[in-house]
Amino acid sequence: MSLIDVDGLDVHYGELQVLWDVSLEVREDDSVVSIVGPNGAGKTTLLKTLSGILTPTNGRVEVLGQDVTEAPSDDIVERGFVQVSEERNLFGDLSVEKNLRMGSFTKREAFEENRDMVFEMFPVLEERRDQKARTLSGGEQQMLAIGRGLMAEPKVLAFDEPSNALAPQLAEQVFETIEEISDDVTVVLIEQHVDRALGLADRGYLLENGRIQTEGTGEELLHSDAIKEGYLRG
Ligand SMILES: Nc1ncnc2c1ncn2[C@@H]1O[C@H](COP(=O)(O)OP(=O)(O)O)[C@@H](O)[C@H]1O
Ligand SMILES: [Mg+2]
Repeated sequence: MSLIDVDGLDVHYGELQVLWDVSLEVREDDSVVSIVGPNGAGKTTLLKTLSGILTPTNGRVEVLGQDVTEAPSDDIVERGFVQVSEERNLFGDLSVEKNLRMGSFTKREAFEENRDMVFEMFPVLEERRDQKARTLSGGEQQMLAIGRGLMAEPKVLAFDEPSNALAPQLAEQVFETIEEISDDVTVVLIEQHVDRALGLADRGYLLENGRIQTEGTGEELLHSDAIKEGYLRG
């Protein structure tokens, strides 16, 4: 059984089609699957479709063998697919701890245990547990968004450009955190930092203009002409 199985997705915003016949798979033995491509390729649209925020006009999405094409987002979270969105979607006026609580709505009974696990991973969040989310630095907000995603005990955790708007050193820390998380949870990583994302990936997909152009192991993609010519410099 695949963790995620996507078959033939077409997605529109009104009349405007942005995804064409997109198929992909996340397998149980994948630790990181990366989806790379330029700005505007449709990466966020794809992730929103997988997480039930958008409904495709054609095609099918399965999570853990269950058809969730028309399912609401909460059901998809409950099944084990959680995303850390590009905007991070924190509750700015709520404390760090309350934001973590919001992430645990499907696993309330395990709140304290999971919170302590998140605090262990990100000690700075424990130091700031009573501080409002909007007063955290960009890097700390990204940690909180990741921590909140972990509170739902995902089987698959998807990241939409997690290094976006972070200084290089912080971005590097985020990639290291993602690598650590991928020891326990399968990660779907959406990135414009193509070399870093494919370096971490067991398998990857290149999305361009709303279509999957190439797929393969991370290694194969890094050495493919499509990636070398379009995305890697130097
Ligand atoms: N809410 C929306 N309404 C209309 N068009 C949108 C909307 N969101 C994104 N788009 C368009 O869909 C295309 C893909 O966008 P997006 O999925 O955000 O790409 P990426 O995440 O790869 O940068 C772009 O052309 C973008 O302008
Ligand atoms: Mg995007």
